[in-house]
Amino acid sequence: MKGIVLAGGIGSRLNPLTRVTNKHLLPVYDKPMIFYPLQTLVDAGVRDILIVTGGQNAGDFLRLLQNGKELGLQQLSFAYQEGEAGIADALRLAEPFAKGDRISVVLGDNIIEGDVSAAAASFMQQEKGAMVMLKEVPDPERFGVPVIENGRIVRIEEKPKNPQSPFAVIGIYFYDASVFDRIRELKPSGRGEYEITDINNSYIADGTLRHSLLEGWWTDAGTFESLWHASNKVREKVLRKAQEPAMVRNV
Ligand code: G1P
Repeated sequence: MKGIVLAGGIGSRLNPLTRVTNKHLLPVYDKPMIFYPLQTLVDAGVRDILIVTGGQNAGDFLRLLQNGKELGLQQLSFAYQEGEAGIADALRLAEPFAKGDRISVVLGDNIIEGDVSAAAASFMQQEKGAMVMLKEVPDPERFGVPVIENGRIVRIEEKPKNPQSPFAVIGIYFYDASVFDRIRELKPSGRGEYEITDINNSYIADGTLRHSLLEGWWTDAGTFESLWHASNKVREKVLRKAQEPAMVRNV
């Protein structure tokens, strides 16, 4: 399976932090934000990764990550998105890279505590279709929200005023090769963007969307509050890990 990190956009919700740099290069505790989604893919066993980005700072990703060896990547590729027409529009650029393989897509501002290797393995057992991951959150109206009936997702609503469940569809998605045909059929949403939620709904319409629940914490980092929260959660994790060997020594 190949991996794609979507790291474009203008990061308007973080202005002025994003006036002279890309959101995904901002610090989250001790690392630039982009390191975390890359690590999520590496932890799931993905070694061949494409970063889709755009804007004036695209070259900084290459300076920062070089060939990706430091993160254990076999190959790191880049695609340049012109304009900002939404997540599904950015994903369109990954078609020549995917070359018919299955893909795992991570939004560049999504950070998790644990890993998604079990979900990735389960997706590889699926004959076809897609898999999304859910996490219970206190503010589902900020996200894609699943409507669940009898344990199945019957629809996903993007940023609904009245969420029908307490879950967010997080920004880690698994797709078969049909995703690119589905993108070609998309129409821009009310806010003028090609929505990843519409892609996921097209899999639901075919009965081929599965879901799995994420263990451990998850956060996005695209607003001042969530960026601050992300840094805190990562800091707690780093400090906890740093204490682990000492605890073992004390036993
Ligand atoms: C995007 C998706 C949304 C998803 C979220 C996860 O929203 O549109 O469905 O729940 O990412 O971070 P955005 O944060 O780009 O507004």
